[in-house]
Amino acid sequence: MGRGARARTAPAPVRATQFRVVLLAGVALLLAAGCTEKGVLAPSDNAGTGTMFGPIDPQLAAAGKPIFRYDDFGDSVFWTDTLHMNQVVEGLTPVQALSLGLKVDAAAIPPGVLSAVLANPAALSDPATTRALLSLNAVVGVQATVSGNHVTTFGITCALCHSTVDNSVAPGIGHRLDGWPNRDLQVGTILAASPAVPAGAFKDYLLSWKPGYYDARVNVDGLMTGPVLIPPAFGLHDVALETYTGDGVVSYWNDYVAVTQMHGQGNFQDARLGLHVTTRGPDLVQPKLPALREYQLSLAAAPGVGAEPAAAARGQTVFDGPGHCSSCHIPPTFTDAPRLHALSEIPTDSAWALRSATRRWRTTPLAGVSRRAPFFHDGSAPTLGAVVDRYDAFFHLGLSAQQKSDLVAYLETL
Ligand code: HEC
Ligand code: HEC
Repeated sequence: MGRGARARTAPAPVRATQFRVVLLAGVALLLAAGCTEKGVLAPSDNAGTGTMFGPIDPQLAAAGKPIFRYDDFGDSVFWTDTLHMNQVVEGLTPVQALSLGLKVDAAAIPPGVLSAVLANPAALSDPATTRALLSLNAVVGVQATVSGNHVTTFGITCALCHSTVDNSVAPGIGHRLDGWPNRDLQVGTILAASPAVPAGAFKDYLLSWKPGYYDARVNVDGLMTGPVLIPPAFGLHDVALETYTGDGVVSYWNDYVAVTQMHGQGNFQDARLGLHVTTRGPDLVQPKLPALREYQLSLAAAPGVGAEPAAAARGQTVFDGPGHCSSCHIPPTFTDAPRLHALSEIPTDSAWALRSATRRWRTTPLAGVSRRAPFFHDGSAPTLGAVVDRYDAFFHLGLSAQQKSDLVAYLETL
């Protein structure tokens, strides 16, 4: 994250106060250097293969779980030395951290300690408690080292954005739910707190992001047209292409995010985006991609919230019939990927897709959809009813009020 793909081949170290400019210049340098090393997945390897995945390899998936949860791929160099996020978090109280959407993994805390903290309001207002939680490795998606009153290193993992907790102990504290998007996480506010982000248009842009949103392209293209909702990383088995715009398969996107956004130590290439990021040191991302992929594919979608069975059954006939929904949302994955859709086919704003490698939309898989309001990439539909109304108007479906509510009931069972 931050404004600039990591400039590993830049000749001079990046000074924090200048990182926006320097990192952008770094991208230019990388382009000029025309790095040609073969990446883990060239675009031609990913797009449109459409092959269905085989059964999950349980051992490989088990190896991927700690990578998903705890591996920062060496990104703490960027988050500590460039963004100085360690300084930001060492002064945060647990109340502040929770209000930024950070989650606490109750299973990582000895039971006596957890009950003592919860019984003592002063502890929840004391940054020392946050540091204790960090040293217990109990803050979801954060890897930190603590020394006395200081956080000396800070890095992030995939779980920061793609895990939440079940709130079984208290709001924001509970057992991990891997693959569930963290729709409370204030990524923009957290990034804007970095002393390396100067006041100005970019900082204002970060501060404009609502909880649960992130823009994984602004440091590449500089366009501040708006972030997207963090999607789930569950329910992806047999989904042929990932991301809202179907830029590639799971591992393509994992590599993109780990290298260009988290600033892990690795290589990423995509000629479509003009991106050639190379590392001098060993690639800490690529060797982990197969296990990381297997773990994600093993994550079952959240169960639907449920609905009255007769209404849901009627809704299914609308979905498959007059709603024409299943022409794109084809069961069992409820997507027609690798087919992608022209922007004019879909009733949402195009700005995000125009920044992607495909400039098309992938049909969003719908498993667990009722657990993740709002809807569409930009959250422009607050409810499933609003989604249905949007399609009804756009495709001139002429659905009755009854058909619409039945359709919503069906979506609530997926
Ligand atoms: C700062 C938040 C953040 C972090 C960290 C992050 N992601 Fe994401 N992830 C996103 C956003 C936002 C998107 C949507 C991008 C798009 O579709 O253009 C996304 C998309 C995805 C998707 C595609 C889901 C789908 O159905 O299209 C997967 C899978 C995924 N991320 C996995 C990961 C993994 C694995 C990691 C760690 C290597 C990771 N993410 C790190 C925010 C994040
Ligand atoms: C022409 C293909 C197409 C048709 C027909 C279609 N969809 Fe979609 N659907 C998409 C695409 C593409 C997206 C992602 C658009 C975006 O996020 O901007 C999407 C997104 C959605 C979402 C939001 C999912 C989320 O997590 O944000 C829901 C819900 C949905 N569609 C339901 C339906 C229903 C119900 C119908 C029938 C009335 C329908 N769709 C018809 C292609 C289609």
